[in-house]
Amino acid sequence: MRRCVFSLACIFLILKVESSSLSSARTPCEDGWFGSSCQYQCHCAGSGTCDKHDGSCSSGCQQGWFGPACQYASMAFMAYDNQGREVRWLTDKNDASCNNGWRSTLKVTLRTPTIISWVRIVVKDSAKDIRIYLNIKQKGVEGETKCDSKDSAAMVDTRTYDIVCNSHDPVKEFSLFGTGVWSLCSLYISGGRNVALKQKTKQSSTYNTWNSSNAVDGKLDIPDNEISQAATCTHTKKDNYAWWRLTFSQPVDVFKFHIYNRRNPSRKDCCEQRLEGFHLTALGSQRVLYDHIDEETEPANMYKVRPSTRIKDVHAVKIKKGSSYLTLCEVKVFGELSCGDGQYGLGCEQCLAGRYGRRLAETCSETCGRDENLCEQTDGAC
Ligand SMILES: *[C@@H]1O[C@H](CO)[C@@H](O)[C@H](O)[C@H]1NC(C)=O
Repeated sequence: MRRCVFSLACIFLILKVESSSLSSARTPCEDGWFGSSCQYQCHCAGSGTCDKHDGSCSSGCQQGWFGPACQYASMAFMAYDNQGREVRWLTDKNDASCNNGWRSTLKVTLRTPTIISWVRIVVKDSAKDIRIYLNIKQKGVEGETKCDSKDSAAMVDTRTYDIVCNSHDPVKEFSLFGTGVWSLCSLYISGGRNVALKQKTKQSSTYNTWNSSNAVDGKLDIPDNEISQAATCTHTKKDNYAWWRLTFSQPVDVFKFHIYNRRNPSRKDCCEQRLEGFHLTALGSQRVLYDHIDEETEPANMYKVRPSTRIKDVHAVKIKKGSSYLTLCEVKVFGELSCGDGQYGLGCEQCLAGRYGRRLAETCSETCGRDENLCEQTDGAC
């Protein structure tokens, strides 16, 4: 298990040094992309483009996205107090509307059961106590997964904390309790990020220019026009055994798949039915970890494949068809990198162990070890 060595503050420092020394050498990313190899897609609100280095958005995140560089899918939910009344200040995405009552337990219900990885809470300016527990009901049983802000939170700023809370199964409901609920203003629930983008791909053969990387190019706008489609969808030749494969640069935990089909409303004879009955597998280093055969009776524009448990340590994803053409317009894989203990974030670079200040201070040296390049407990500096 890799240890968590850097705190958030260290990472910012490294990013700063890196950007000043390398920015002149590296070609900048295309608009709408960022990261060291332009592997992340911007998700800013409006037509805002993000910072090409760290992905930050001056306009805030696009609807449905949140978290570091707006890369995480924000899951929709409802919240209720212990008398069953709806709690709107928690769901209104307004960090200025907060709890003004004395509700000590809140029930949170996700609109769609989802495997989750972490939640973000925003508390009042004056909050001194952010102690919050999450109690996830899994398979109808409460208490199997309990997450505590003390052991698994990272401070983002003085009002914002991320609490890592990995569920094994799709979560329908959890409760929030602890004294911190009194200062609570907002809650955001992460359903993972698209870990497939710009990863390595291959297919059994390539028809014309419809190459395999077009399924991980982040382009969801699929025009009803073959010339344009050839630049954003994949297409094999008519193989005896047509397949497309995605290989992750690092193992990932997978929560769900979204597979975008080709659509040609102007052609009756073709082409969306070609994907019917596709076979998807998730592969570990040694064996098949997950197997799904499509059973939809009508071709769908987008297929949602939701495994019943988290698929851990996935190395590759393969989609195959028997004797046929195989065309995919986009494959999104929602999940997280399989980070070591005490780590989370886009590249596992965020360190729970590096927490500091206020009530989150205690464990900096404990979990990070005693190397000299660790963060200071007082202010997180290295
Ligand atoms: C695949 O096709 C896209 C769109 O035409 C193109 O931009 C890209 O360079 C191609 N990639 C490869 C590896 O050929």
